[in-house]
Amino acid sequence: MAKKVAVLVGSLRKASYTKQIAQNIINLLPDDFEAEIIEIGNLPFYNEEYDEGTTPESYTTFRNKISGMDAVIFATPEYNRSVPAVLKNALDVGSRPYGKSAWNNKPAVIISTSIGAISGFGANHHLRQSLTFLNMPVVQQPEAYIGNVASLLNEDGIVTDEGTIGFLQSIVDAFVNLVNKY
Ligand SMILES: Cc1cc2nc3c(=O)[nH]c(=O)nc-3n(C[C@H](O)[C@H](O)[C@H](O)COP(=O)(O)O)c2cc1C
Repeated sequence: MAKKVAVLVGSLRKASYTKQIAQNIINLLPDDFEAEIIEIGNLPFYNEEYDEGTTPESYTTFRNKISGMDAVIFATPEYNRSVPAVLKNALDVGSRPYGKSAWNNKPAVIISTSIGAISGFGANHHLRQSLTFLNMPVVQQPEAYIGNVASLLNEDGIVTDEGTIGFLQSIVDAFVNLVNKY
């Protein structure tokens, strides 16, 4: 049976480089992996009161969607050396109600991007910290830091450099290996 993969992108920009990298990653997945980019920009900021009263429909839809997935790809830019709020919010929403986290035990990979040379290291590792708590096994190697991202994409959002494609494929291969162990 095909493995279902949620793809979460930590940028809401239509022209997001990170989203373009995520699409390149999706294109490298094997045929028995079905990936879907999941909307996170529509989730209101998490408030525990929502889970004590009327839960927003967007929360329920999101939680059900993640629960039905086998694995998760996180592709994120770095904001102020950390994870963009929209992605952290999605993690928080999916982690509740207490004891019913949609993330539990789902294998994952983190791909950080940056227009600069430091490659989103801060975002990558802050996200890794949260995923440890959320009990998500995460690809350890290769570490997926994509720096100078703008220069890697052509006008159609495609990575054309053979070395970079090979690197993205090695990330995908490690992710596929991890997912197939679960
Ligand atoms: C609020 C904000 C904070 C940022 N902080 C960082 C940062 O800490 N490190 C970094 O490499 N780039 C930082 N950037 C630049 C992003 O790498 C750049 O805007 C990138 O294009 C965002 O990814 P996207 O193209 O997927 O939207 C920041 C951008 C914004 C808007």
